[in-house]
Amino acid sequence: MNITVAGTGYVGLVAGVCFAEVGHKVLCTDTDGERIKLLNDGICPIYEKGLEELLKKNLKNKNISFTENYKKAYEKPDAIFIGVGTPEKEDGSAELGYISAVSKQIAENLKQDCLIVVKSTVPVGTNDMVEKLINDFLVSDVKIDVASNPEFLSQGSAVNDMMNAQRIIIGTKSKSAENMLREIYKPFKSPIVCVGRRSAEMIKYASNSFLALKISYMNDIANLCEAVDADITEVAKGMSYDERIGKKFLKAGIGFGGSCFPKDTKALIYLAEKNNIHLKTVEGCVHVNENQKNVLYKKACERFLTLSRLNISVLGVTFKPGTDDLRESPASANIRKFLNDGANVKIYDPAGMENARKIFPEGNFLNGKTEYSHSAKEALSGSDVCFIFTEWEEFMYLTPDDFLENMRRAVIFDGRNIFDSRKMELNGVEYHSIGRK
Ligand code: UDX
Repeated sequence: MNITVAGTGYVGLVAGVCFAEVGHKVLCTDTDGERIKLLNDGICPIYEKGLEELLKKNLKNKNISFTENYKKAYEKPDAIFIGVGTPEKEDGSAELGYISAVSKQIAENLKQDCLIVVKSTVPVGTNDMVEKLINDFLVSDVKIDVASNPEFLSQGSAVNDMMNAQRIIIGTKSKSAENMLREIYKPFKSPIVCVGRRSAEMIKYASNSFLALKISYMNDIANLCEAVDADITEVAKGMSYDERIGKKFLKAGIGFGGSCFPKDTKALIYLAEKNNIHLKTVEGCVHVNENQKNVLYKKACERFLTLSRLNISVLGVTFKPGTDDLRESPASANIRKFLNDGANVKIYDPAGMENARKIFPEGNFLNGKTEYSHSAKEALSGSDVCFIFTEWEEFMYLTPDDFLENMRRAVIFDGRNIFDSRKMELNGVEYHSIGRK
């Protein structure tokens, strides 16, 4: 099948490369010329395990190519997948400007019948809007159909999530669109769920918000555990044996971040409000998450009275391990507070340093000072307190001695509960974590 993919961000690029991997002929287009050049040279502009290898392989066998020339890209494909961004607007709603722009470009350049598939996360009703827009602006005498096919990729495991998807959601208005998508997805061997277009759009938001809810619920319970002397990791373990609850997304911590949960929960609330519905559960989830990002900061302020002039080491800046992405990361929110309070912050992250430097430049910044280290131990050296914001595997190998020997005083605030609290305390480390004594 000849497939064009609009947008080479997370959604578009992973989809394009995986479609090529299963044998489709894929042409990806983006307005960012630099990005297109990199991709045609086999260089992956995003940090994602396994993606660059697949990109190189499929460039070589000519299953995939990249172009800035969208006119050519939209002329004669069998299907066009739209994977452009839908960032959060100030009021919480999703920005649909990129989707509209691509829809008009498709309409102005399409020269044969085509299935348009919306892969970006979009509010319910957007597929109808895309269909109307394209039909309004169509130049040639061709027929289009529009389908919803939301993605469920998780950063750090995106290739695997697409190649071995737990489910493929297809939202269509016609049987022919459904059949074509079934054909495109045949090589993936994942279960296909066919629903109406609006349901497909809703499934994406409802799924992400449900996972976010699970996390906020566990964070709520974690804070209660601390007050009543219970241990959230033990509580989560006990809960997880109930198949109705499940084992995943029960980890309490410093709050969720990333490009999806914060944005999608707010967009769902916005959509509900527009329809005079109050999604109290999701509103609660967002509220809990905002508070959760501050719990360690508040504890540290009580412990030290002021963070001014304190030497703080920060281990982990990305919103989760396996990515270089700092979007909405709890670490960013906390580092900003430390610097505002006049602290000296030394940062180490295995993948996120380059992006961190763009937000927190090295040297004097805000009221404090930022420094970057080459290793966790270097970041610990001479510090008064260490904050752990991301559960990178390499941090788990640090021993109590590493903290005792390198820090001026071994005080840890662990936002991801990566260490055994008893072991830390027994070895003389002052260890604060989430939902545990
Ligand atoms: C998420 C969804 O998982 C994915 O299906 C969707 O397509 C995009 O959004 P992603 O944002 O990449 O993926 O990361 P995810 O692994 O879901 O984690 C999101 C945030 O929740 C991270 O900040 C993570 O640290 C946090 N989290 C996750 C917890 O705090 N506890 C958990 O138990 C799980």
